[in-house]
Amino acid sequence: MAEPTVLVTGATGNTGSRLLPLLAARGARIRAAARRPGPAAGPYETVRFDWRDPATHAAALRGATHLYLIAPVAEAEPVSLVEPFLADAVREGVRRVVLLSSSAVSAETPGLGALHRLVQETAPEWTVLRPSWFMQNFTRDHPVAQGIRATGEIVTATGDARVGFVDAGDIAAVAARALLDERPHDTAHIITGPEAIGYGDAARIIAEVSGRAVHHVAVDTAALAGRLTDAGYPKEFAAMLAGLDENIRHGAEDRTTDTVLRVTGRAPRSFRDFAAEHRAVWAWPGLSGGS
Ligand SMILES: NC(=O)c1ccc[n+]([C@@H]2O[C@H](COP(=O)([O-])OP(=O)(O)OC[C@H]3O[C@@H](n4cnc5c(N)ncnc54)[C@H](OP(=O)(O)O)[C@@H]3O)[C@@H](O)[C@H]2O)c1
Repeated sequence: MAEPTVLVTGATGNTGSRLLPLLAARGARIRAAARRPGPAAGPYETVRFDWRDPATHAAALRGATHLYLIAPVAEAEPVSLVEPFLADAVREGVRRVVLLSSSAVSAETPGLGALHRLVQETAPEWTVLRPSWFMQNFTRDHPVAQGIRATGEIVTATGDARVGFVDAGDIAAVAARALLDERPHDTAHIITGPEAIGYGDAARIIAEVSGRAVHHVAVDTAALAGRLTDAGYPKEFAAMLAGLDENIRHGAEDRTTDTVLRVTGRAPRSFRDFAAEHRAVWAWPGLSGGS
């Protein structure tokens, strides 16, 4: 079989950026797609790609055989943008598609669930990744991380319910296998970390490793939606995010799966190990590296 050429959308993001070196280590040709691509670095070719600019799509797809698909983020009905792109992709020779979705979305979910069906019906070989909430939400540009940095508060509508937080590196490791294993997975993988913990537990762990006062503030769903809207999120999207918290409060994410171990052969990272590695991110300014 010819060497695969993998088009990685969302290549600058949480999972895409971690996927690139894993694919390179397995000898794949890689085309890293971003809206503002930098110069080609090491073994990666880079290409400008914008979901909302179809003029960028043909060059991104040229010669690609495999596709890591991150649909337009913050789009309630992404199918209208993804469907024509996927049809072009398969026509141009893409045979395997790995879609990054979410544990909160199944094929039956209105709106986003249509992407699962689309990939399954369009791609000759497919995998849908359904990860739980990312540990990187605590460190990067996300309301949880912003709250910790601003006031030491993690504000959610999850109550004391638990979540199987997962490291984006573990999701990328599953994605690499789904893309490059000889046999297509042709299934949906629910991906979690090794344990389910509450936001209160996460706050305690971050406080312990960083030396900073961090705590969880539980609010109701409407209050969270209001806060997200005030922070600049579009009203509909804020309501959707707050609704996901409400589902968590009712136990939707209180589970763990063996997917990472089963697919990659190594155990997923724990929240405590993740937090210890990132403690400098949360340390008070002036406390370099944290405690
Ligand atoms: N965060 C979580 O807890 C979580 C949990 C489960 C599932 N997910 C899913 O994971 C996916 C990624 O979420 P994330 O928060 O981790 O984001 P991310 O992958 O870190 O960032 C989004 C990526 O999409 C790219 N992008 C944004 N707008 C684009 C556009 N118009 N055209 C082309 N590329 C565009 C960005 O690249 P540039 O800006 O560089 O172009 C960036 O690489 C989402 O579908 C989300 O639903 C997230």
